[in-house]
Amino acid sequence: MTDQRPVTEATATPITLPDAQTVTQVKHWTDRLFSFRVTRPASLRFRSGEFVMIGLLGDNGKPLLRAYSIASPAWDDELEFYSIKVPDGPLTSKLQHIQPGEQIILRPKPVGTLVLDALLPGKRLWFFATGTGIAPFASLMRDPDTFERYSQVIMMHTCRDVAELEYGRQLVENIKSDEMLAELFGEGFADKLLYYPTTTREESAHMGRITDNLTSGKAFADLGIPGINPEEDRGMVCGSLAFNTDMKTVLEGFGLEEGANSDPRQYVVEKAFVGDGI
Ligand code: FAD
Ligand code: A2P
Repeated sequence: MTDQRPVTEATATPITLPDAQTVTQVKHWTDRLFSFRVTRPASLRFRSGEFVMIGLLGDNGKPLLRAYSIASPAWDDELEFYSIKVPDGPLTSKLQHIQPGEQIILRPKPVGTLVLDALLPGKRLWFFATGTGIAPFASLMRDPDTFERYSQVIMMHTCRDVAELEYGRQLVENIKSDEMLAELFGEGFADKLLYYPTTTREESAHMGRITDNLTSGKAFADLGIPGINPEEDRGMVCGSLAFNTDMKTVLEGFGLEEGANSDPRQYVVEKAFVGDGI
């Protein structure tokens, strides 16, 4: 039978992208930050903390892809991402306008160093993040394995101002009050998760860079933790290259050694983005 539909109707059909996933939710947090959820490919298996390549079709018709940490936990039916909006960024200048029902490209090949298996067993697990570097920890904080392996989990997140902390603040609040998670994670898990947000350029309850609050001992005094030592403490770091470099110095100063998937040790690091000229 011949297709009787007018040509104009045919052009309204959604374009089928390679590895296309449908956007289900978008939330704008500030003029620089937004989060969104997409359908999850049935075949996608990942370890909490890993990243994938996602993107859109560029003007030349070719996929324009960037690395993104999966912010949702492995048990979630959908995938969540937390994103920067770079005003003239090739991808995010467009991605920031996506709407539910639209499609993105997602290459289902997760990788990354911020995984529990890259660390030796310990007592406390520290997550150190600046800006969108909280994304892999948004996944790990919702993974029951995290709380099975460690008796305390400490999320330190630093941004310039209070509004930039809001995604993480709501996330931690929701994790702690979620009845389904309480059932999944076991009794008392909410008390195992400590949250230490700070700002550096706006007045708030706790201020200062993560590096300074660790070296001065302020974070330990505020949290009621004696300090970081290589026997008990494990760390995961995710931020700008400058932050990651400074954090390595701080953690090595406490006697921790950097690990990897193939060589688990006391801390691991991953870039939250690749900076200008790097
Ligand atoms: P790009 O050309 O990629 O970047 C332009 C400039 O914007 C960069 O040079 C840098 O100065 C700045 N920039 C880029 N990303 C960020 C950022 N996240 N925070 C602050 N400044 C930034 N980005 C996310 O928003 N969320 C994530 O979960 C995330 N995970 C990543 C994981 C890995 C392993 C890596 C390497 C990068 C990750 N990124 C993430 C960065 C992401 O890949 C892109 O750089 C970002 O989406 C901007 O893309 P763009 O094409 O608009 O601009
Ligand atoms: P500061 O305001 O003192 O620069 P940005 O928005 O530039 O990516 O920074 C996010 C947060 O990370 C800011 O609070 C910033 O503090 C902090 N930061 C940037 N560089 C470092 C670093 N090398 N060590 C510790 N914190 C850093």
